[in-house]
Amino acid sequence: MKLIFLGAPGAGKGTQAEVISEKLSIPTISTGNIIREALKNGTEMGLKAKSFIEAGKLVPDEVVIGIIKDRLALDDCANGFILDGFPRTIPQAEALDNMGIIIDKVVDIEVPDEDVVNRMSGRRTCKGCGASYHIQNKPSKVEGVCDSCGGELTIRKDDAPETVLDRLNVYHEQTEPLKDYYEKCGKLRIVEGTKPINEITVEILKVLED
Ligand code: AP5
Repeated sequence: MKLIFLGAPGAGKGTQAEVISEKLSIPTISTGNIIREALKNGTEMGLKAKSFIEAGKLVPDEVVIGIIKDRLALDDCANGFILDGFPRTIPQAEALDNMGIIIDKVVDIEVPDEDVVNRMSGRRTCKGCGASYHIQNKPSKVEGVCDSCGGELTIRKDDAPETVLDRLNVYHEQTEPLKDYYEKCGKLRIVEGTKPINEITVEILKVLED
């Protein structure tokens, strides 16, 4: 299965991708995680992306399209994948089409803006593997420590409330038009993202079957 998880910042794309990728035995490709890793390692791409990511703006299309092209060429993508956070603009979606990639379904996780701001204030992200937690809704077993890799849990710089509002504006202006793009080709499936995490997983598995 070749899937795209679409949704506002904080909609739960990463949280659901983690569970669904395990259930379907396919990798998750998160452009956000790849860029943050590059930033941490001080690579040329990371340095190029720094000012954009920290201001809540989108990294230029040509940079992310290059990242995705290289990543999808790796062997572990042969049987499918989940794209988390890509595409985020119409040119990115067109670039994916031009690579000859046929997407099976696009899962759009819908959450109102007010919920997003609240969620982000409680999010904690693993410095090591990028796994996402929430101090109330999805706490780690040991406070401040990642369950998966033992890495330190931190607050993402772009989760500051003022940056979250900028990210929401960017989402509405540049990413939301993708709903129409994928609706037109019959691939869009909408899932209510305000329910508990495990209920949303069940919903997603259901829409993947039809
Ligand atoms: P990225 O890392 O992709 O951020 P995002 O899309 O803004 O999404 P998030 O990771 O913030 O949220 P999510 O939907 O994964 O939610 P999560 O599961 O963590 O991108 C960051 C930046 O990188 C961008 O701003 C941009 O600069 C750059 N970038 C990345 N891709 C790009 C691209 N394609 N083009 C250009 N630039 C790009 O959940 C959020 C919180 O809520 C967690 O704490 C979680 O535990 C909790 N939660 C999840 N589900 C529920 C639930 N059902 N109920 C209650 N709490 C929940």
